[in-house]
Amino acid sequence: MSGNDGRWDRVGEAPAPSWYLDPLVARQKREVHQQLVRKWTEGCPVESVLKTDLFEEAFGEDQILFDLIPGTHRVIGIDVSRAIAARAMRRSPLGCARFVAADVRSLPLRSELIDVVVSNSTLDHFDTREEFQAALSELARVLRPGGVLVITIDNAYNPLYQLLRLLSRFGVGPFPLGYTTSLRGLIQSLEKHGLEVADKSRLIHNPRLISTLLFLSLRRTLGKRADTPIRWLLGLFSRLDALPTWPLTACFVAACARKPSNPPEE
Ligand SMILES: C[S@@+](CC[C@H](N)C(=O)[O-])C[C@H]1O[C@@H](n2cnc3c(N)ncnc32)[C@H](O)[C@@H]1O
Repeated sequence: MSGNDGRWDRVGEAPAPSWYLDPLVARQKREVHQQLVRKWTEGCPVESVLKTDLFEEAFGEDQILFDLIPGTHRVIGIDVSRAIAARAMRRSPLGCARFVAADVRSLPLRSELIDVVVSNSTLDHFDTREEFQAALSELARVLRPGGVLVITIDNAYNPLYQLLRLLSRFGVGPFPLGYTTSLRGLIQSLEKHGLEVADKSRLIHNPRLISTLLFLSLRRTLGKRADTPIRWLLGLFSRLDALPTWPLTACFVAACARKPSNPPEE
């Protein structure tokens, strides 16, 4: 269960739950996600954007939402943790944005309201497949016809992800990891909820657990001088995308799904 059982409030009340992300890694994560959303929403009139969790906006240099699509009238961010939503609100430079404590499986939004939904690694924190499906159904409901969902989830085939998930069950790591699926499984689920998958991708290649420990120790020992080796390693890891081994190295799988437009009335 990943509802409002206080678990995420405890994470959100920690001084810096995003300690595991080096600033350079956080910046890479932000750029990769923003570029993907902009590419997949190009040419799409965007008046309203919803982001399904506010972890990055509350804590990290990997925030995505604040400057995602300039000129958007309605920017809404939700998070099941009141503490995280409140922190994101305090950090937000956007006067008009709404940051709300809400569960993605039961959104306090009317149907067909949102042009673009960005859901990056929120739906991979549930214990069960049924909860994952319930959340997808909500995202499909709030999208307007013709609207776009950009979704990423943890890559189930990254062998180090499975280890990370196991460790998280024993309280190791910053937060718990939950059910996730393959890129094919994600696409099938999106289609089951009536969405058309327009594109797919895989994001951020690295041996996740090992690279995180490596970056942290480089930073701890070299301080500012760690910038050069970390940049070099990030460049090296990003080349893994071109290899046939990508299903094993991608941290996230991603899909762009469109809600079909309503047929014109007779
Ligand atoms: C640890 S973060 C990771 C996701 C983040 N986008 C990232 O990629 O770093 C998970 C976030 O999802 C939020 N969350 C967990 N379950 C949720 C739910 N049912 N509805 C909305 N937000 C949820 C948590 O409060 C937390 O902010």
